[in-house]
Amino acid sequence: MPDKKLRLGVLISGSGTNLQAIIDACAEQFLDAEVVVVVSDKEAAYGLERARKAHIAAVWVDRTAYTTFRDYNHAILFALRTHEVDLVVMAGYMRLLTREVLDAFPMRVVNIHPALLPSFPGASGIHDAFDHGVKITGVTVHFATDKFDEGPIIAQEAVPVLEGDTAESLEARIHEAEHRLYPAALQLIAEGRVSIEGRKARIIG
Ligand code: GRF
Repeated sequence: MPDKKLRLGVLISGSGTNLQAIIDACAEQFLDAEVVVVVSDKEAAYGLERARKAHIAAVWVDRTAYTTFRDYNHAILFALRTHEVDLVVMAGYMRLLTREVLDAFPMRVVNIHPALLPSFPGASGIHDAFDHGVKITGVTVHFATDKFDEGPIIAQEAVPVLEGDTAESLEARIHEAEHRLYPAALQLIAEGRVSIEGRKARIIG
């Protein structure tokens, strides 16, 4: 197992409950990594406050301050490089990353999605699955590409839709599953147990 802790740069846009689960897992030494910077495209994202409370660098990169999406992504990349990030963790970050960022971290950018991909991609995966009437949905952790919710799947957890569920009660259980699965998937990467073969991620051991 590598002796150096994996340095995580977490990208967020919102409340950051997944970020919190990752911070807590690092503190509890369930996850052999440390969050070294949190970057948000939203100034008001509560996740930035969570980062500050945990004494982690909290960076707001204002999209409107950059003329092009490329320049904005360059600023994101600068923040990640400044903090010597090993692995980029998208946790409710609601934008794509450009090739420039992805190429700087080949197969070192991961994302979480609140449905069983490739079903129900997009910003409303939980509600779309619920409205479709599926009996099982879940959570997916995958390597990110330059397309939304695509890339080799690292881990999935199924969440049954129960009789009497509302979209809100389902959402609560999905989030519980996310908060378990994301740290566990990151730990597999920290242990060097995830490899890529073609379109597939494989777990070693
Ligand atoms: C999560 O459901 C995640 O799967 C999705 O955005 C949500 C972020 O929630 N991509 P939070 O900011 O971590 O609370």
